[in-house]
Amino acid sequence: MARLKTGVLISGSGTNLQALLDAARDPAYPAEIVCVLSNKADAFGLERARKAGIATGVINHKDYPDRAAFDMAVHGALTDTGCELVCLAGFMRILTPQFVDLWRGRMINIHPSLLPNFRGLDAQGQAIRAGVRLSGATVHYVVPEMDAGPIIVQGAVPVLPGDDADSLAKRILTVEHRIYPLALRLIGEGRVRIEGETAVINDAPGDPTRSLLMPDDGR
Ligand code: GRF
Repeated sequence: MARLKTGVLISGSGTNLQALLDAARDPAYPAEIVCVLSNKADAFGLERARKAGIATGVINHKDYPDRAAFDMAVHGALTDTGCELVCLAGFMRILTPQFVDLWRGRMINIHPSLLPNFRGLDAQGQAIRAGVRLSGATVHYVVPEMDAGPIIVQGAVPVLPGDDADSLAKRILTVEHRIYPLALRLIGEGRVRIEGETAVINDAPGDPTRSLLMPDDGR
């Protein structure tokens, strides 16, 4: 079966990108990473992609007169490499509604909270300040509204006494690195469909795949 051609957009360290690259190394994984694009030339994620032998590109937003022009350059680079799906993985630019529309139902993001709680920047700090006992991460389809859109997979972690935003962020990253490859696998297997505001997963029997609890809940 053809593997889903996937492009990844990054701005920074790219640990989620690494998790996707690692998963896609398995020829049986139903998606392949065909390009990694960054708006920052010094993003460490670009190194990770090069090491994995994946085509990379830098599209510096400062080289474009406005968001629309930048987004169209990104769109062009994605289509040039034959991307069928886009994964946002720590991509720190707001995308125009026009770009989001071009990739509607074909672009996903990971956010470090249990959405719809704590949208926007510093989700981990928001969770600490709210005093929640559980937080986590969400992989969702991208819609024009930020950190909204049909939820595909969530993973939860405890918030422990003494946590600050950094320690919580580290714990959440461990679950991010599991749920992003999981969500991409589900899409690659054709098991996710969008119904209105939600994403529905066609679960295989005995294979609960919509949520993870960490530390490992043994599922
Ligand atoms: C992650 O916390 C992700 O949820 C958020 O940005 C961060 C990216 O981290 N969208 P990395 O670059 O994948 O390490």
